[in-house]
Amino acid sequence: MSASNGAEESGAMPRLKDGTLVRDLFDHGKRQVQLRVHHDAEIFDLEMERIFAKSWLPVAHESEIPNPGDFVRRYMGQDSCLVVRGDDGGISVLLNACSHRGMALCREEKGKAANFKCPYHGWAFSKEGRFMAAPFEKQMYGDQLRRDTEDLGLVTAKTGMLAGMVFANWDHEAESFQDYLGDFGWYLQAALERTNRGLEVVGPPQRHIMRANWKLLAEQLADGYHARALHQSAGDMGTLGHNPNDPASWGLIGINVSTPGGHTLRCIDMRLAYNFEGLSAEASAKERLAAIPPPGANPAMVAEFGQNLTDGQIALIADTPPLVMGLFPGTDFFTLMSVSGSEDGSHGPVMVARTWIPRAPDLFEMLTWILVEKDAPEDLREKTKRTTVRNFGISGYIEQDDAEAWQGIQKVVQGPVGRKLTGKYQAQLGIVKPDDFHGGGDVHAGFSRDDAQWAWWKRYAEVMSN
Ligand code: FES
Ligand SMILES: [Fe+2]
Repeated sequence: MSASNGAEESGAMPRLKDGTLVRDLFDHGKRQVQLRVHHDAEIFDLEMERIFAKSWLPVAHESEIPNPGDFVRRYMGQDSCLVVRGDDGGISVLLNACSHRGMALCREEKGKAANFKCPYHGWAFSKEGRFMAAPFEKQMYGDQLRRDTEDLGLVTAKTGMLAGMVFANWDHEAESFQDYLGDFGWYLQAALERTNRGLEVVGPPQRHIMRANWKLLAEQLADGYHARALHQSAGDMGTLGHNPNDPASWGLIGINVSTPGGHTLRCIDMRLAYNFEGLSAEASAKERLAAIPPPGANPAMVAEFGQNLTDGQIALIADTPPLVMGLFPGTDFFTLMSVSGSEDGSHGPVMVARTWIPRAPDLFEMLTWILVEKDAPEDLREKTKRTTVRNFGISGYIEQDDAEAWQGIQKVVQGPVGRKLTGKYQAQLGIVKPDDFHGGGDVHAGFSRDDAQWAWWKRYAEVMSN
């Protein structure tokens, strides 16, 4: 059996054309990864088949398509898809390819459709992807077009939802969405599903192209270590690191969490990073949240948290709130306070969801959604929008720093000598779980080391090698 660009698979063990077994790209003893993983077209093709055709991927926020017939066109890996609201309010994710001869069905970015009609020969499909009709059906096919026995409908993905974000997976045999989230569902609900009415997006996602391999972003999510050097300029502006020599102020002290499934989470220790002056030492988690509401919330929303979250989840977002939440392979959420760009120099909330779509070994497209609470008053909504675009997306202070690293490494791996280097992840803390910490997964409490990042690579290696 061979993959599309020549990577041979002997049994279940993929081997590259130069004879290298894919599993040998990873040294688990030394915790190193060969940097050629960011360059080789053969590896890219294997990723599309083994990861992106079989993983849960975010495609839209449900608030982008509120009414029956509303749709957006997106990508899952290299496959174009339509995310469509049906007449019953349900959401379908359809391969954007006609079942007749494979023509791209829809070329609009977004719109409203009663059904989808192929521009080539005119076959028509329902909002759920069912075959409806073919022009001149009797003259063309007589009674041979076997709608009853042949599947003439569009390829569909199965769907799941988190905080209104619609996820889809082409593989109907894949684990359920809840199983995919596993222990991470608890953390993500605490950070994102805390209010009665939940979240919505502010407009369509920002889109931009990055000249780098998609993994350079994905594996970086758990890397706290880079903040002090790469984000120095953001620190100088007051975005991060209000005390340059204090690791807590750079978000380096806290709790990292990882799972065998490759999800990674970085929680900062609010008790170290913020000054709770004026609150008594015995203040409860709810009192502290009411005094300093988490990003995107106000005191009225904090009062609702108890209806939606457990005491353990409330303690999490009061003491060690998730800052960076990464889901393998292509999703992250950030919730933090940062400089808003206002003339008064104040901080505001960042609430963002992102996905990265591999286009080529050295190119990915980024989609960045701004999230707000549906109940957010206009001033909070405006401040969240302003602060988020100042920090993330094409105009973001933080993201522009990160993009330097993604593109800087990508330039190195273009070279035949450079790509023989390895990425190194030896700084391991191990499992350290405080007694009063309620979350699951592999918990690494303390200085943010490489544990969670290496967990991401272990999952990647497992999916690519076996
Ligand atoms: S390819 Fe769509 S109708 Fe022929
Ligand atoms: Fe960063």
